[in-house]
Amino acid sequence: MPRIAYVDGAYVPLAEAAVPIEDRGFQFADGIYEVAASLNGRLFDWPAHAARLRRNLAELSIAEPMGPKALELVGRTLVRKNGAAQALLYIQVTRGNARRDHPFPAAARPTLVMTARPFDYAPRLRQQATGIKVLTQPEQRWGRCDLKTTGLLANVLAKQAARQAGAFEAWMIEPDGTVTEGASTNAWIVQPDGTLVTHPADRKILPGIMRDTLMRLARGAGMKIEERPFDLAEAERAAEAFITSTSAPCLGVVAIDGRPIGGGTPGPVSRRLGALLWDEIERQTGYRPAG
Ligand code: PDD
Repeated sequence: MPRIAYVDGAYVPLAEAAVPIEDRGFQFADGIYEVAASLNGRLFDWPAHAARLRRNLAELSIAEPMGPKALELVGRTLVRKNGAAQALLYIQVTRGNARRDHPFPAAARPTLVMTARPFDYAPRLRQQATGIKVLTQPEQRWGRCDLKTTGLLANVLAKQAARQAGAFEAWMIEPDGTVTEGASTNAWIVQPDGTLVTHPADRKILPGIMRDTLMRLARGAGMKIEERPFDLAEAERAAEAFITSTSAPCLGVVAIDGRPIGGGTPGPVSRRLGALLWDEIERQTGYRPAG
């Protein structure tokens, strides 16, 4: 089935989908994005994704191209047109197309593009069982990492370094050793007493939707959570570590920079949290990966 994209009001073949070269997304990374999972035609945690997108637009004074209901309708239509039972819906909004000049253009309409990429969660189940490796990288991003902007060069470089080193994810480390988050995931550790620790949702990390959902489920299961910075030394002593994101719900970290974490296999807490997340995914969408 040919893939279809949505570009400013039209559904077009992905191979022909384009925006003008003076679009501010292309020129300045002056835009924001959102990634949500569409499973069985249902968007997992959609209200939270829509709210984050809306907040991002407001923080950057980019006009809303359409409201959350219309956005959901277009997203679901796009997924259907792509015929994918499981897909990642990508939504990008930029400040629009205007003569290149740094200040906001007086009259530009925001550009809205969406794609729906078929996505199979089954490999994630396997990774959940084996665990993943992390490579540390210096934190090189800007002061508003809470905004989901398309300016991802530091994330791209960190992820590439990780993959070249045979690791799945990179963890960003500040000069004082603080672990902020992953290149495209949130970072967690588990203390020996089972308490979960993750960086507070301030301007240094993206407030992940899966992070939020996992927190809600963990609290519901009686687990304790501390939202506070932790450093690499603490992570190396942790009972467990794991990552969360839309595309990697909960994966145990078995090594950081080649040094084993916990027992060197995914621990019971991350496996339990993974199970809770799959239950929640199934409750909302009816989907459960075969594994
Ligand atoms: N990444 N931190 C960063 C820097 C991210 O880019 C992401 C998401 C997350 C996790 O957020 P969520 O739980 O809402 O997916 C944390 C998306 C999926 C991406 O860039 O493709």
